[in-house]
Amino acid sequence: MNFEKAQLRMAELCQQLNDHNYRYYVLNQPVISDYDFDMLLEELINLEKQFPEWISPDSPSQRVGGQITKQFKTVRHQYPMLSLSNSYSEAEILEFHKRTIKTLEHAVEYVCELKYDGLAIGLRYEKGILKQAVTRGDGQQGDDVTTNVKTIKSIPLKLHGNFPDEFEIRGEIFFPLESFRQINQQRIEEGLPAFANPRNAAAGTLKMQDSAEVAKRKLDCWLYYLLGENLPFKSHYESLQAAKSWGFKISSHMALCQNEHEIYEYIHDWRLGRYELPFDIDGIVIKVNDFAQQELLGSTAKSPRWAIAYKYKAEEVSTRLISVDYQVGRTGAVTPVANLEPVLLAGTTVKRASLHNADIIQSLDLHLNDIVVIEKGGEIIPKITSVKYQFRETGSRAVEFVEVCPECQTLLIRTPGEAAWYCPNSYHCPPQIKGRLEHFISRKAMNIEGLGEGRIELLFDHGLVKSLADLYELRFDSLLGLEKSYESEDGKLRKVSFREKTSQNIIDSIEASKTIPYPRVLFAIGIRYVGETIAKKLAEAFPSLELLMKSTFDQLVAVDEIGEKIAESVVTFFADAENFTTVERLKEFGLQFSHSVNRSLASEKLTGKSFVVSGVFTQFSRDEAKNLIESHGGKVIGSISAKTSYVLAGEQMGPSKREKANQLGIPLLTEAEFISLIEN
Ligand code: IVH
Repeated sequence: MNFEKAQLRMAELCQQLNDHNYRYYVLNQPVISDYDFDMLLEELINLEKQFPEWISPDSPSQRVGGQITKQFKTVRHQYPMLSLSNSYSEAEILEFHKRTIKTLEHAVEYVCELKYDGLAIGLRYEKGILKQAVTRGDGQQGDDVTTNVKTIKSIPLKLHGNFPDEFEIRGEIFFPLESFRQINQQRIEEGLPAFANPRNAAAGTLKMQDSAEVAKRKLDCWLYYLLGENLPFKSHYESLQAAKSWGFKISSHMALCQNEHEIYEYIHDWRLGRYELPFDIDGIVIKVNDFAQQELLGSTAKSPRWAIAYKYKAEEVSTRLISVDYQVGRTGAVTPVANLEPVLLAGTTVKRASLHNADIIQSLDLHLNDIVVIEKGGEIIPKITSVKYQFRETGSRAVEFVEVCPECQTLLIRTPGEAAWYCPNSYHCPPQIKGRLEHFISRKAMNIEGLGEGRIELLFDHGLVKSLADLYELRFDSLLGLEKSYESEDGKLRKVSFREKTSQNIIDSIEASKTIPYPRVLFAIGIRYVGETIAKKLAEAFPSLELLMKSTFDQLVAVDEIGEKIAESVVTFFADAENFTTVERLKEFGLQFSHSVNRSLASEKLTGKSFVVSGVFTQFSRDEAKNLIESHGGKVIGSISAKTSYVLAGEQMGPSKREKANQLGIPLLTEAEFISLIEN
């Protein structure tokens, strides 16, 4: 491609990709598939590699991260970042309202908004381009976290429409609850401590040095406050609607209120409504709408007089503790769960509450039949926060934590410094086996469809699957007709059954899983602390399971990113006779336990040849294809030119690449042709 054409194409791709990002992350209305998006992004990144001088500051490639910040620069805020005064009752809101109209001697309109529970951020835009993102810090100066903030897809790098030349917009960076759940699950799998709540997770993420890591974390951002000199808006509401039209993510849960009663109504609606939101809020914010009135009211050193926060107190209620059950999770951690006399809390009937761990039982000095206070937090299941000792019956029995696993009677153990007790019988304790099966079939592992929602449980209870390998012995006839009712996580009774279509789907899906590549199989077999990333590292270092099984602790820790905890876990896993047998059986069933093409046979066959890799493959990932080419002496290049020797063309190869290869007469290799080229 000549210079001018490339420049034009880069600008066009930039604009298209930014538009798709906006539709996906802000409007929630994507118009192309993720795959098509990735193809466009790849095309842009290839062009940017060739013409780095034309990388635009608003290029979506900037969102992928990669820049490392050793120390964040301290920046003084142009406008101090004040905080809000808090209130907890309607009486306090009324006081605020009376004070406001008394000062203004005029009627007042308010904007009520959600109070997002995350981290405040100030974004500076100049000529429509994001220039700087600064944290709150001490309110006078904060940290420049621009590189990390640019990875947040809902924050526009370039604005559209009629925006002011220079302004700052403030908002809250937060972790959506679903992403928070995912990251904590992954951290637990990899042996890292879980984040206590989404807010801490967001704070930790924003201060990471490697922006590529931040990009993976799926942070999001609501904007709620526009500041600048001579802005052409009369009111807060109007300014945010304008900001919305420039591409910012502005909440639609705002309400204009004319008096205190309308404010109470808004507070009331969100008291329970907040539990349905996909992110945390800790209250609402009430702001005087009119900018001229805001100015008249002014601010104290700490907070503006034109706004106030209303904080929801955690909903709590008392009830009686009936008994304590002990649940064993997938990792073997034993969690005490309280059975309670049913009581209404935050709109739902509660029968159970989490007690988290033995230390909490002890610090509450909990006895059976105690009257306990339970609180509804962000989680599905509420927690016990205190005991009303004055109502304790004399002679009642203290709750004692179990010493043996309630499922398999193995003596529990506790690692010094950790709060949880564990059942060490990892590979033979029923809930741990079921958990391992559920992990094995999950989408990111073996992707076996049709076995979710209680079906694994059903197969286990019928004795059809006791180990991962048993899945591959399931037959259509043994599945058909099985059924069971069970209580789901939310306490509702559900029924699962295997009809003809489901049963056939399951069998087909199990068969298809035999082509899942080695690194994913390694992740799927559920070695503790071996998450997706670690599985890939292990598969790189030990190209077959046989080699991994023979590896020693020292060989394992010598691998980049493999620490002692993981190494020990790998060694222990394969030392267990039952695991060994399971893995051997899985191998016999034809699962991929080495890289599909033997990479140790690296040769000089591709020396002097250059390849462009495009599309998706069945036997290897695109990265693996690139490694293969290089290990046989070939070179991988980003885009097709007259000098390209071959295009390795997978399925769904981009049409523009195909056309270009045809134009220049570059041969396209199918996956099979490529394999025979390096194998022969
Ligand atoms: S307005 C000068 N609106 O609450 C007041 N703040 O304690 C500017 N917050 O630091 C803030 N949601 O981090 C405003 N809708 C919202 C908010 C909000 C959350 C946070 C913000 C601020 C803190 C005040």
